[in-house]
Formats: sequence, C-alpha cells, structure tokens
Amino acid sequence: MNTVTLTKCLCFLSAGIMLCGLQAPIQAVDRKSEIDFEKHVQPILRQHCFRCHGESHEKGGFRLSRKEAAFGTGDSEEALIIPGNAAESLLITRVQDADAGDLMPLDGEPLAEKEIQILKTWINQGANWPDSAAVATHWAYEPIVRPDIPEAEDQSWVKTPVDAFVLTQIQESGFEPAPELDRARWLRRVSLALIGLPPT
Ligand code: HEC
Repeated sequence: MNTVTLTKCLCFLSAGIMLCGLQAPIQAVDRKSEIDFEKHVQPILRQHCFRCHGESHEKGGFRLSRKEAAFGTGDSEEALIIPGNAAESLLITRVQDADAGDLMPLDGEPLAEKEIQILKTWINQGANWPDSAAVATHWAYEPIVRPDIPEAEDQSWVKTPVDAFVLTQIQESGFEPAPELDRARWLRRVSLALIGLPPT
C-alpha cells in the first residue's frame, strides 16, 4: 500500500469515526413518550454536567457519568435521583430552583426548559438507566472529531494545518515565531535536541 492510498484510507476511517460519533439532536418530548436514557438524557448530562461531575472532576462529591454514583448522593447527602419523584430529586432542584443553591450548570447558561423537562420526565418514568449504557466520558473515549483549523494571520508561515494551530497559539501568547534558520544552524539545533550532541 503506498502512502497516498494509506492516507486516503485513514481519511475515510476518521470520517467514519466522526459520523459514528454524531449524537442524535436533543429532541422535544411530550410527557407520554418514553424517554430513552442514552438518546435523550445522557447527551444533556454529557454536554452540561460532565465537565464538573464526570470522570475527571467530582465537584460536589458525585459523578453523573456512572450509574452507582448518580443514584447515590453528593456532599449534601440528599438523593440526586429518586426514581418516580423528580420533584424531590436534588438533580432537578439544582437545575431549576435558584433558592436551593447556585443553579447548575455552575458556569453557564441554565438548562433550556425542554432539557429540564426531559430530565424530569425520565425520573418520573422511573429513571431507567440501562447497565449497558456506555460510560464514554473520559476524553480518551470521546469520538475523534476534526477540529476547525484556525485562521492564521500569516498564511505564508503556514505550510501544514498543524502550523496554523502552532502559529495561533504563539501569537495568542503574545509572541512571534522565530525567523527561519540557515541550514547549518538548523541542523545543529536538531542534532542537539535529538541526540544531545552537536553534529559532526
Ligand atoms: C462548572 C462546574 C459545574 C458544572 C458544569 C455543573 N456543576 Fe453541579 N456542582 C458544581 C459544584 C462546584 C458543586 C458544589 C457546590 C454547590 O453545591 O453549589 C455542585 C453541586 C451540584 C449538586 C449538589 C450536590 C450535593 O449533594 O450537594 C447537584 C445536584 C449538581 N451540582 C447538579 C449538576 C447538574 C445536573 C449539572 C448539569 C446540568 C451540573 N451540576 C453542572 C459544579 C458544577
């Protein structure tokens, strides 16, 4: 397999992974329709809560990324989810009742009415959380997505998309890239960096 074919295969593969990673949009639900944990509830938690109550952070003493933890309690020792009783579930209180404490998510816009409704209906319907539901929360398990390439100011400096990220980062930190070196100095630096010795 030559390099071009290999590159093409990799592109198709990553496009495939990206497509698989697309999540179903959060849909409006009426009270009667059955809420599906993985389709409706988990995307809301993933988008709005996991950055503080997920695999990497356990603010307030609980995670919403794991079933046992989510059905337990946090620092206040009040039940987060009481199946069949959304009104008494702390998870609901804290997203809709500002008198109960700082509204969650702590760092952003409050949840949309539609999203709160989904969480409530799910809990009132018995909070069915299938054991098979993937945790898929640690960054290592997130689907691979191709990031947008930043618009670098100096396009002549950018030879590959990676350079655009590097240049933007350098400039955002208030620096300019060092000028390009002549070949001899370049080789000296590369050699020192790679093997710790000057070139012969
Ligand atoms: C930016 C970080 C952050 C985000 C995002 C966030 N939280 Fe919190 N959450 C906290 C912190 C910090 C606490 C502990 C302090 C407090 O209770 O206000 C907390 C506490 C809580 C508690 C109270 C736990 C207890 O037993 O006292 C609940 C319930 C809660 N969060 C639910 C949520 C839900 C649901 C979401 C998503 C919709 C969410 N949080 C998003 C930071 C966050």
